[in-house]
Amino acid sequence: MNQAKLHILLSQKGKDSKELFGLRLATNLTLIQKQFFSLYSEERHEKHFQKLLKLLTKLYLDRPEELKNQDLERLKTGNWYQSEDLVGMQLYVEHFNKDLKGLEEKIPYFKKLGINFLHLMPITTRPKGESDGGYAVNSYLQVDKKYGSKEDLLELTTAFRNNGIYLMLDFVVNHTSNEYSWAKKAKKGDKKYQGYYYTYEDYTIPAEFEKTLPEVFPETSPGNFTYIPEMEKWVMTVFNSYQWDLNYTNPEVFLEMLTNLVKLTDMGVDVVRFDALAFLWKRIGTISQNLPEAHNLITLFRMCLQVVAPGTILLAEAIVAPMDIVKYFGEEEKRGNECEVAYNASLMALLWNSIATKKTQLLYKSLMHVPPKPKDCTWINYIRCHDDIGLGYENHLIEELGWNPGMHRKFLLDYYCQRLDWSPATGLLFMYNPKTGDGRITGSAASLLGLEKALTTKDQGLLEESVKKIIMLHGITLAFGGIPLIYAGDEIGTLNDYSFQNDVSKKGDSRWVNRPMQDWETISKLDNENLPQSKIFQTLQKLIKIRKNNTVFADSNNLELYHTGNDHIFSFERNEDQQGLLVICNFDENPQVIDSSWIKKLGYFSKGEPLDLVSNEKVSLNSGLLELMPHQMMWLQKG
Ligand code: GLC
Repeated sequence: MNQAKLHILLSQKGKDSKELFGLRLATNLTLIQKQFFSLYSEERHEKHFQKLLKLLTKLYLDRPEELKNQDLERLKTGNWYQSEDLVGMQLYVEHFNKDLKGLEEKIPYFKKLGINFLHLMPITTRPKGESDGGYAVNSYLQVDKKYGSKEDLLELTTAFRNNGIYLMLDFVVNHTSNEYSWAKKAKKGDKKYQGYYYTYEDYTIPAEFEKTLPEVFPETSPGNFTYIPEMEKWVMTVFNSYQWDLNYTNPEVFLEMLTNLVKLTDMGVDVVRFDALAFLWKRIGTISQNLPEAHNLITLFRMCLQVVAPGTILLAEAIVAPMDIVKYFGEEEKRGNECEVAYNASLMALLWNSIATKKTQLLYKSLMHVPPKPKDCTWINYIRCHDDIGLGYENHLIEELGWNPGMHRKFLLDYYCQRLDWSPATGLLFMYNPKTGDGRITGSAASLLGLEKALTTKDQGLLEESVKKIIMLHGITLAFGGIPLIYAGDEIGTLNDYSFQNDVSKKGDSRWVNRPMQDWETISKLDNENLPQSKIFQTLQKLIKIRKNNTVFADSNNLELYHTGNDHIFSFERNEDQQGLLVICNFDENPQVIDSSWIKKLGYFSKGEPLDLVSNEKVSLNSGLLELMPHQMMWLQKG
């Protein structure tokens, strides 16, 4: 039983909010103390621990009453984030409808599609020019003028609450921009703030780090340290040279960042996206990702936030190896006490592999290889986001299939990045390293799935194929268990946006190709014209409705993978009591058949032919075989 469950139990005793805060603090204190002193030695930092305890009370007292009440309501409803009712969208406010006010006007659009969970990309102040899309933060709490004001944000979060929409915002916990107030003071020679970052007099220690640190942006920001002439010091900059890594070995940094975190949730944020959290702790001689101290630190943040604002949860943005991602749900005594939600980056990357290879063996092998997640945690399932697609598959699993990992990755880059004439995909390379052949892929879902090529070559067959693929991939994320997250524009098959190539602050970063403007003109035609975009939108709308009306979609770790014996097929079941839903997808461009005896054994034919909720037709067999058309997805209903 995780700590959140204990808080749920305690909250049912009819105590008032302040008393419950005290109980939560008492309940989490041992874990908080343990994590704190594992990072900051007890001999030297007892004062900081006492400061933390005082801070927690202050933060609780400062939390707005309305949100305190909501926290208690949420405790009563339990794991709201695992509900079938949640369907999410991720968007850039300025690319969607100008600013925060404009976004509020679009609440009816979200309702029409069935979206009730929104991830807004960073909206706080950032440097002019390059800012990594706002992930270089000049402040954690001040809304950038181009989006509106703090009042606009508060008005928006109130409107979201009134409309049952959950809000997720980023907490860029690993680094600030070089213009953040701490960085500015550090540059002026203030030793206190130089200690908030990893700063060094000379290159000796950086050189030691560099021996094992990989590069995140090798093309645009090689190396992990930047020399700052004003300061006459080197500073650690793992991402871009203008993003300074925070030094969490300093407890003051933790205390200040905890305050920023809670204040962010005080504006009405329900889910906090912990950005780049795998990088939070650094150690010479390691790659400085996924270190045990990073997990202790995240648990510490989590346990403190839970005491102050138990209605809010954390999302792990850990785009790391599949076996490492699940660790962000917490292990052993931290199990279920780290992040409640994590991006299912493995599923995402594997689906793209299956599209290119038309086969599903690596998908099965990898999914079976990952240990089950704690039952109180869930995934965000998605096919595209604002970032690139990394090819983070486990090499040994690729080898088990008889493939060479290097050659296989090269094939995927060739397939998606326009290096094979026959491929329907029109993606771009990201951070390609010609020396190693490593690279990642950018592009919108629709362009990667062939819609762009189909429209430019006016190829009707390709167009139909690509629409089916788009629907199939979204369908998998809607059914897989967790919060499905649609990237804004994907619901209407938006194509690549090449305009970034004309903007000096963007042209070095091809991720901008998959950050298009929301196409309201097309959206205005969806109901009246027979467009491929209408087909995508309307099908998603229908699938979302089905999901919301069926509790079997709620994530209770009720997912079972099934091997069908056909390497082109992917199948899994969601089951709960007598209910069941069997998802079957064909990744091939030819019709495929599978034996149906196992489906019968599962009980899907016990009341006659089962209904496929996607086509709304009964499914019939031919000599005991079930046939799936190219890129067809079935959602078979039991009973
Ligand atoms: C995360 C964001 C990415 C950003 C990076 C650095 O990975 O998703 O867009 O570049 O963090 O903040």
